[in-house]
Amino acid sequence: MKLEGRRLLITGVLTKRSIAFAAAREAQLAGAEVVLTGFGRTRRMTERAAARLPEPVDVLELDVNSEGDLAALASELERRWGRVDGALHAIAFAPEDAIGGDFLATPYESAATAFRTSAYSMAALARHLAPLMEDGGSIVGLDFDASVAWPSYDWMGVSKAALEAVSRYLARELGPRGVRVNLVSAGPVSSPAAGGIPGFEGLAREWEGSAPLGWDSRDPTPVAGAICFLFSEWSRAISGELIHVDGGAHAIGAPDQGRTSSSGASQARTANSRGTNGGTELSETQLI
Ligand SMILES: NC(=O)c1ccc[n+]([C@@H]2O[C@H](COP(=O)([O-])OP(=O)(O)OC[C@H]3O[C@@H](n4cnc5c(N)ncnc54)[C@H](O)[C@@H]3O)[C@@H](O)[C@H]2O)c1
Repeated sequence: MKLEGRRLLITGVLTKRSIAFAAAREAQLAGAEVVLTGFGRTRRMTERAAARLPEPVDVLELDVNSEGDLAALASELERRWGRVDGALHAIAFAPEDAIGGDFLATPYESAATAFRTSAYSMAALARHLAPLMEDGGSIVGLDFDASVAWPSYDWMGVSKAALEAVSRYLARELGPRGVRVNLVSAGPVSSPAAGGIPGFEGLAREWEGSAPLGWDSRDPTPVAGAICFLFSEWSRAISGELIHVDGGAHAIGAPDQGRTSSSGASQARTANSRGTNGGTELSETQLI
């Protein structure tokens, strides 16, 4: 098994529809030992999802914006494992007025919150975990292609552009210590958070029809597979990279009228959920 003996921290599991849940499941099936994080009032949801993984896992507290939580997480991981081989950053958040179509009206504070939680946080996590990766390690984040502007994605899209730059700078900083840093740019996945993005369903439907390989927005397993590859020895010379796992959609300028993909193309469904961020209750339209 390709991840036998690897000790992985997986953030961002909210429900079993979270991309991070699929990553944790695939990593366990490949032999990895996994710990999850959750925070605040949604931690119980993470614990419920954790119970559905192939192997039982612990859920540690982490609000990624809290230096105290980050420090406590790192010392707990050091206590139980002595080292960490890999970490998945699957965290994003934007306040309601930073996403949804009124880009110019977003106040600075809301844009800054989106940036802090969704982009800066990868560096904060790396700062605390890199000292536990003395034998080398792999940090993986999740992106939604930020090379273009999307409807509704607004300051979350800007934050993803920042995340792409953050991962390159982390790759530069941490490479000499044997730590690799990469992003997986996923096609639309019907996760809890995606259900809160206005127009997500339409985008997912279009993607499913136009991606050359087809795309099933209800199935995060292909994304999880790429994450596990980046945790594995097979990707040992890859860092500062952005791997598109989107059915090939990023390579296509416009859909080929009259030709639809035969392999994917099922209707997207969306999921709604409630969660917290720094103690603030979220509505379905505030998410990523
Ligand atoms: N769903 C998609 O279509 C899609 C596509 C590309 C990339 N992504 C990215 O994948 C990642 C995971 O999202 P998802 O779609 O699985 O949704 P999700 O709602 O399952 O995951 C988002 C996670 O962020 C966590 N989070 C938010 N604020 C936090 C904080 N302050 N501290 C710690 N955790 C916090 C939430 O608890 C949740 O677990 C995100 O980075 C997202 O932008 C999603």
